[in-house]
Amino acid sequence: MASTLPDEPGQPPKLTQATLANKSNVVTEQVINPFEVSGGVDETGKALAIDFDKIVRDFGATAMTPALLERFERVTGKRPHRLMRRGMVTSHRDLDKMLDRYERGEPFYLYTGRGPSSDSMHVGHAMPFELTRYLQEAFDCPLVIMLTDDEKFMHSDKITIKDAKRYALENSKDIIALGFDPKKTFIFSDFEFVSGAFYENMCLLAKHTTFNQIRGTFGFDEHVNIGKIHFPATQSATAFATSFPHIFGEDELKTRNIPCLIPCAIDQDPYFRQCRDRAEKLKHKKPALLHMLFLPALQGPGSKMSASVSTSAIFLSDKPNEIKNKINKYAFSGGQDTAEKQRELGGRADVDVPYQYLSFFLEDDDELERIRQDYESGKLMTGEIKAICIKHLQQFVADFQERRKAVSEDVRADFFARKALLFQGKTAEQMMNEAEERKKKEKAEKKAADQKAKEKAKEENVAVAPQVTPEDAGKGHKKTTSTVSVGRSKA
Ligand code: TRP
Repeated sequence: MASTLPDEPGQPPKLTQATLANKSNVVTEQVINPFEVSGGVDETGKALAIDFDKIVRDFGATAMTPALLERFERVTGKRPHRLMRRGMVTSHRDLDKMLDRYERGEPFYLYTGRGPSSDSMHVGHAMPFELTRYLQEAFDCPLVIMLTDDEKFMHSDKITIKDAKRYALENSKDIIALGFDPKKTFIFSDFEFVSGAFYENMCLLAKHTTFNQIRGTFGFDEHVNIGKIHFPATQSATAFATSFPHIFGEDELKTRNIPCLIPCAIDQDPYFRQCRDRAEKLKHKKPALLHMLFLPALQGPGSKMSASVSTSAIFLSDKPNEIKNKINKYAFSGGQDTAEKQRELGGRADVDVPYQYLSFFLEDDDELERIRQDYESGKLMTGEIKAICIKHLQQFVADFQERRKAVSEDVRADFFARKALLFQGKTAEQMMNEAEERKKKEKAEKKAADQKAKEKAKEENVAVAPQVTPEDAGKGHKKTTSTVSVGRSKA
């Protein structure tokens, strides 16, 4: 079985857009969980691409549609992020319900996370956070970022507790520098935070989860350490608002009605399927999800960016020259061998790493489309598309590094501080009270309107009745009664 082994300690393998090819003659089924990501194997032993439709079919996720993106835009008044516009957000669970809540002014929060498995983050790691940053701005809502240092400790043979804690601390500064709003963001590491209300929810989830369920979902056997078996309860506890009384308030009866929306890579879905399966039974809201693709490694189709292989990834700490050299030297090209052939035949944008990166980083849709056409028609040379890609990546990393410099210990501490976070400038309690008031008012208004309509109908009937009566004169009393009923049904 072509199981894809994790490419860095304690880090799940990555799915990339380049792995989305057609497949036939599957002899080994695909496996997708946080620890193994494989599209399966065909009869010739060739590793197959990930089949996203299968995820939608087998696991009940919903494919992202242009109609839903249009609704997102209508409801939030914000143009969908380029990662959404370009299909990097492949599927979702209950995004439509979150949009309903947003429309009704009911609170929800965003939740995402990172397994801190290395000191340095690469641009691939930054993408789900970039999407989350945008969503925080679009919804103007609180965000919780979980750093699972305990998960990385339990899943790695090498990482010590001390390492994992250091990685969490370092990574948190990188995450902050990606542009989150401290008034609306809480970051925590499990080793530091787990206790109190959070721990209570972990235990609640653990008590209602059997080994069989975890084994089935994650593909564990009985030799796996029990930390790995228990960890899903930890990752799920963050999806319950009652885990964070300092953010949402102490009134559990109210706060358990606040759901979250989780932007994540598709490999994290098993955790949240588990959580969704039991949330309502435990009197909590099911988390909603947005599933995202991974950025491909420099080596291109089928390969994964790895923090431990420096030539596979562009790091957020890379200098402009390093970015240039890596792209020029290692980026897999969909172009032809010679300039002559390139002019004649054109390149293949769908497997070309510089083009793929541009589709993640370049904001302007028209410019991206022009680049694709020029590249595929042979107008643009391999070196030229690489140069464009280098320019945009250098800009992204330079902007990041500028912000990273400003992340002092005080700034970090502010993100880790236990404080209330605001929804559209209001606390959870205010927001919920207002939504409640609005509901009451709407109900009262509806009642008043119904009453009015009833009265109007009555009046009409009274008015109608004399008109009817002369026409129907002599036809008896019954007819009048039937007219009344017609008038009523019109109301
Ligand atoms: N398990 C994730 C990882 O290894 C970290 C994580 C925790 C996460 N909660 C999350 C990722 C929510 C996305 C969304 O990287």
